[in-house]
Amino acid sequence: MPYGQQNGQDPSWFTGGEPCWLPARRAASLATARTTVLGDDPVTATLREDLQVLTVAGAGGEAAGERRLVVGALAELSAQHLGPVLAGALEDADVPAGEGFAVLARDGEVLLTAARPAGLRHGLGWLTRRFAGGWPDTDVTHVEEPHVDLRVLDHWDNMTDGPMGVVERGYAGDSIFFADGRVRTGAADLARVRDYARLISSIGVNAVCLNNVNVHATEAHLLDEHLGDVAGLAAVLDAHGVRTLLSVDFSAPISLGGLDTADPLDERVAAWWAETTKRVATTLPGFGGYVVKADSENRPGPHTYGRTHADGANVLAAALAPFEAVVFWRCFVYDCHQDWRDRSTDRARAAHDHFAGLDGEFAPNAVLQVKSGPVDFQVREPVSPLFGALPRTGVAVEFQITQEYTGQQKHLCHLGTQWSEVLRFDLNAHGGGEPLRVADVAARSRRQGGSPTGIVGVANVGTDTNWTGHALAQANLYAFGRLAWDPGLDPREVLGEWVEQTFELPAELAGELVELMARSWSVYESYTAPLGVGWMVRPGHHYGPDVDGYEYTPWGTYHFADRDGIGVDRTVATGTGYTAQYPTGWARTYEDVRTCPDELLLFFHHVPYSHVLAGGSTVVQHVYDTHFAGVEAVEESAATWERIAGHVPTATAQNVRERFAEQLRSAREWRDQVNTYFFRKSGVPDVAGRRIH
Ligand code: GCU
Repeated sequence: MPYGQQNGQDPSWFTGGEPCWLPARRAASLATARTTVLGDDPVTATLREDLQVLTVAGAGGEAAGERRLVVGALAELSAQHLGPVLAGALEDADVPAGEGFAVLARDGEVLLTAARPAGLRHGLGWLTRRFAGGWPDTDVTHVEEPHVDLRVLDHWDNMTDGPMGVVERGYAGDSIFFADGRVRTGAADLARVRDYARLISSIGVNAVCLNNVNVHATEAHLLDEHLGDVAGLAAVLDAHGVRTLLSVDFSAPISLGGLDTADPLDERVAAWWAETTKRVATTLPGFGGYVVKADSENRPGPHTYGRTHADGANVLAAALAPFEAVVFWRCFVYDCHQDWRDRSTDRARAAHDHFAGLDGEFAPNAVLQVKSGPVDFQVREPVSPLFGALPRTGVAVEFQITQEYTGQQKHLCHLGTQWSEVLRFDLNAHGGGEPLRVADVAARSRRQGGSPTGIVGVANVGTDTNWTGHALAQANLYAFGRLAWDPGLDPREVLGEWVEQTFELPAELAGELVELMARSWSVYESYTAPLGVGWMVRPGHHYGPDVDGYEYTPWGTYHFADRDGIGVDRTVATGTGYTAQYPTGWARTYEDVRTCPDELLLFFHHVPYSHVLAGGSTVVQHVYDTHFAGVEAVEESAATWERIAGHVPTATAQNVRERFAEQLRSAREWRDQVNTYFFRKSGVPDVAGRRIH
């Protein structure tokens, strides 16, 4: 039975999980056409099967008539497949060379083509977005190409259950790739991976790193003992135009290779990586390269041998180069053994301190993977200044889709807006230089003909039927893919797309859902840590309030609250000097307490509670106001959901209802603890006289 037909006429054409934004009904208009899919490579083959399944599932639409859909890579097309008008249109069309695609419609005939088969999969996503409302009755010429080469999902999946769970920072069940210390190989498991590949390729994602950046003993053997099984997963992904990456342990030459060193400048080490990589690259279909977390949070790295990060990355890059594969070298390097008594150490400085001086020393296929902010995926951080400091190096931006510090998929927190702000952030603003947006830093090296470019997100999916634990967190995965493909998209429109594709809601309710999701990031921010100060979570698992949780730990100190004031002084004048890591315009803006944006004030400055914000209220009053308002906003969102709930599948209605109940409980806890803490510290009463405990 062809894949997917287990469900017969069931609108769900996915096997083990929800179809998310790809319900079969989206293809109803495609199902009304006679379809020809040209080519017999693996990607085209899955596309053909998918279209067949959709044609069955979508049947019952309008009669086929003269409608034709032709799908094929450029090399497969010839005049006999296209009517003369369409053939003429194709001659005039500028089909992009890489993974982009073109859609042409003339006289009831539609062509989806691309230079590479992977582009067809991305194009199919476009067709289901745009033609769901009906077959086009006007001419269409639509060409798209991705902003960066690699749009990557990093899974933090472990092979065994450990203190951090099977999926580190995972809130949606177990790993879809691994179970019980092994790679999943069963038919149902691979079908689930295929569902996943179909979902992510439809939004433009083209690479997945299967395992956690923290590579433990079992996962280290993905490179040898488990490699054959990994090939099974890689084949499924590859057949959807998605490359496979593996996280590797820098000390693997010792643990797997039996050498007495992992020194990157030792010839035996280089030879071991070369030989190992050759085996990996020739075994895994669509092998894309490695991800490395080195000299970070107690992981091994080149520093052990007195070598630099460039030495470390380059030995892997050399091993990968013959296979056109890439090493993503993470810049999340800082001292996690700090002494809170030492006020001069500033974790925010660390990535720039470690890497800016190495600019230009990395091999072309070594890409530095930089977290979007300088610390660690807090609800509010400034953009990492490292993006402005690597003009001669390939750079990838790393976002966190999984909601570690942002409510763990129990709270609704839509992050598309945050990522869009980062991608659009102009590093040269206020300084008089040419605009330099983060999204363009990520794309720059490609324009210069150098390193591949990338945008990376830490995945938020697991074995839960709805993939993401919180059904509405599917929208974060969707937004990541769409923004990585095109960072210029309006995140609100992306949300609108997601709502429209995922649900069948009356227009007014769809609008309300978009609105409630769009504001959910700022709602989450309002009842948690204020004004950019971050952290204030329970150490270890990072859920729920703990104002002083990190204050006296070796992991960094983040608010310095005392009876007079709060915030971290990161100025050059009196603090850690972090502001100087930014290009001049931002350095000046952040350095001056009068120009520093309110939402980041406590990230950059230590101020008295009575400090008046640009918004007009004092710091402490702002804390009280936002925390009361935040809880009210969650109450309103939960009530809005009750109006929407009757129009979505029962399981989704109930899932979101339950999560709002928990979010509300937790938000009240946050409000009461944060307000009480600052009331007790400052002794300043709330001007509105509300109850503070
Ligand atoms: C965070 C997270 C860890 C993760 C780390 C990383 O600190 O809590 O679980 O390993 O980021 O990005 O490497």
